[in-house]
Amino acid sequence: TRPLTLLGIESSCDDTAAAVVRGVPGCAEICASVVRGQAQLHAPFGGVVPEIAARAHAEKLDLCVAEALAGAGLSLNDMDAVAVTAGPGLIGGVLSGVMCAKGIAAGAGLPLVGVNHLAGHALTPRLTDGTAFPYLVLLVSGGHCQFLIAHDHATFTRLGGTIDDAPGEAFDKAARILALPQPGGPAVEAAARRGDPARFSLPRPLLDRPGCDMSFSGLKTALLRQRDQLMVDGVLKAQDRDDLCAGFQRAVADILAEKTRRALAALHEAGPVDPTLSVAGGVAANGEIRARLGAVCAENGVAFTAPPLALCTDNAAMIAYAGLERFAAGARDDMTLAARPRWPL
Ligand code: KG4
Ligand code: ZN
Repeated sequence: TRPLTLLGIESSCDDTAAAVVRGVPGCAEICASVVRGQAQLHAPFGGVVPEIAARAHAEKLDLCVAEALAGAGLSLNDMDAVAVTAGPGLIGGVLSGVMCAKGIAAGAGLPLVGVNHLAGHALTPRLTDGTAFPYLVLLVSGGHCQFLIAHDHATFTRLGGTIDDAPGEAFDKAARILALPQPGGPAVEAAARRGDPARFSLPRPLLDRPGCDMSFSGLKTALLRQRDQLMVDGVLKAQDRDDLCAGFQRAVADILAEKTRRALAALHEAGPVDPTLSVAGGVAANGEIRARLGAVCAENGVAFTAPPLALCTDNAAMIAYAGLERFAAGARDDMTLAARPRWPL
């Protein structure tokens, strides 16, 4: 088959992104990938403000697209199609991206391909490693947490996921409770390095239940209670804080490791020749969590791949690539493509 070149657009949360990807399903390369975060815009509010995000996307999308094309040394004439995240996500941001993609598609006479953001994450191991179907994906970010078996580019089995907070959200809340900066993940991980993970016993909800569902919100409540017991005149000692971080991170890692063990058993039933687990999402940046998942895979004779961090977190290369797989399979969208706040895989 002839290599395809796609422009991808992503704007479903707080990253405005555009990318150019070229190749065929299972063997593609990133020609350019531009991501503009909005952290400074949302920092004063302690979380992503949807209206501010949507406006920033609308302002920055054209620039990101121009930078991606220039970075690839290509023009719209060289594209075979435009792929865009059509959901799930913050509706204002998704709409900004879909409108931008429709404008480009109509203006340049290019086919339009809508992409599910979660499919973008789930297909990333195909882009980075050419991983063959079927394989297991663990999505762990600020907004997502689920185990998926990817059977082909459009067919995913959800084995389980969080019933409350996503793990990244739990890290962010833990950081807030312990007066550490946002995003919480890196701050908690740094503090945990100086702490004793065994000093406090924090809960591991749902670990005793069968299946792959997870829960992280009880962990945050337990952390809050421990903190309040330790604080003297509203002050928490640095060592207490670090020990709490270490205990919290260990609990998250224990939950993810045990549920991964069960998900691998389910993958075994799906019967791939060379089983692979791939992680995606910002939490995959965590060293302890990565090491634990790697160890569970080694125990089970399963290959473990973690894409480079820039492709774990939100980006448009994964959207261009997922669009490439859809486009190669004959999928086309038109000007009726809708932005969807919710869109389960
Ligand atoms: O994938 P991502 O960039 O955005 C979405 O949520 O879609 O993930 C961001 C999340 C944040 O909650 C952040 O605290 C978490 O990933 N994170 C980490 C680490 N780095 C980022 N969590 C744990 N350890 C880290 N080193
Ligand atoms: Zn994401």
